[in-house]
Amino acid sequence: MDVTLKLKINGSVRTLETNPERPLLDVLREDLQLTGTKYGCGEGQCRACTVLIDGRPVTFCRLPVSRAENKEIVTIEGLAKGDVLHPVQEAFLQEGAMQCGYCVPGMILTATSLLEKHPNPTEDQITEWMNGNLCRCCGYPKIMAAVRRAGEVKTSIR
Ligand code: FES
Ligand code: FES
Repeated sequence: MDVTLKLKINGSVRTLETNPERPLLDVLREDLQLTGTKYGCGEGQCRACTVLIDGRPVTFCRLPVSRAENKEIVTIEGLAKGDVLHPVQEAFLQEGAMQCGYCVPGMILTATSLLEKHPNPTEDQITEWMNGNLCRCCGYPKIMAAVRRAGEVKTSIR
């Protein structure tokens, strides 16, 4: 049965009528046209569907949308400030850290949360934090370079 849900997404409150058991990923893509969040495995194994929930990276391809109510949700569409890219987005661009690009929104959001916790992360911290975000194009070296670059930029502007 559908219920009324209020979701805080990218700084706005969105109200929708939906089955509370639907995955948040479906609601984002199908109801709210926030298609930057990607459907990969649908089984919680690839993190293509990562969004930030209260600043933490969470995969929502299986979890019900009702679990995201009253929390701050950030999708890749909410990261830039107007025309100004987030430093992690800029770093991915500068490093050319994408091939097909399918994994990139999830990678960028996961890296964003890493840099909030560890502004200048070690190699081990990057590896550990990003572990689980899979790239089917195996573009890991450039992705790692982009995360390092974003950390350097973030540290230099603090
Ligand atoms: S699509 Fe959600 S973890 Fe793969
Ligand atoms: S760039 Fe293709 S999946 Fe990562």
